[in-house]
Amino acid sequence: MSAYFWFEGIPFPAMLYKREIIKESRDKFVIRDEDTVIVTYPKSGTNWLIEIVCLIQTKGNPKWIQSVPTWERSPWIETKKELSMLINMEGPRLMSSHLPFHLFPKSFFRSKAKVIYVIRNPRDVLVSGYFFGRNTNLIDNPESLGTYIERFLKGNVPYGSWFEHTRDWLSMRKNDNFLLLSYEDMKENTRGTIRKICDFLGKKLEPDELDLVLKYSSFQAMKENKMYNFSIIRKDVNINGLVLMRKGVPGDWKNHFTVAQAENFDKVFQEKMAGFSPGLFPWK
Ligand code: A3P
Repeated sequence: MSAYFWFEGIPFPAMLYKREIIKESRDKFVIRDEDTVIVTYPKSGTNWLIEIVCLIQTKGNPKWIQSVPTWERSPWIETKKELSMLINMEGPRLMSSHLPFHLFPKSFFRSKAKVIYVIRNPRDVLVSGYFFGRNTNLIDNPESLGTYIERFLKGNVPYGSWFEHTRDWLSMRKNDNFLLLSYEDMKENTRGTIRKICDFLGKKLEPDELDLVLKYSSFQAMKENKMYNFSIIRKDVNINGLVLMRKGVPGDWKNHFTVAQAENFDKVFQEKMAGFSPGLFPWK
């Protein structure tokens, strides 16, 4: 892979990350009891969840999400600018991270801070990541889906192996300060998921406020929200909103995998996720 550096077994795109910052966030960044962290493997619905949580905080008022970019509303723990933003922020903070368990800030494990972790069918994560890679200059452009599948199965993609990321984070699933969501459930029952998040965060919304959260976090509304388009801050980064808001449906992998690729993926999935009850993964 080009333009990556490896840190403790994980490849990071060099355009976005710095080794010393990843190290600093793990070893020195202090997560406080009142903080909430959105943690995902990339392409699992991170930005959707950020939008929902922000809208819950404003009781459905869209002013904040329409005037402040996502990375300022919920700064990344693992990037330089956002980490310093977080360090200087007072009060309960909302933050995001794609970090695998072993690189996550150590202070979190001594705190009562809350983590919301979203899982998504890794086949859809893969397809989403493939098209993302082909349409930005942030990560190297995968030549074909076949080679990208091979890399994905080996963990040679940004943030490493989906299987390890998911397995390690799921070890927290019985903890009170950990909420496990899935992209598929969010899609199938968005209202129910928003309620679940409210309960977890100790927030109460009136039915009309919940309607507003639903309205402004819809795929269409997010597609139209300019605060969601990365290119407004980084002129050297080409990502258009269409790539981030590509299709927004579960099961698109079926339009792209061959039968042999699907069978091989299943085999690896069974091996790597052995020990987890299949009921934990709500995709078909
Ligand atoms: P697809 O590429 O399959 O369309 P992330 O935010 O973690 O990078 O995830 C991006 C994926 O979430 C993309 O998937 C994107 O379309 C989908 N997504 C973003 N907002 C969404 C929404 N409001 N509803 C459904 N899917 C959404």
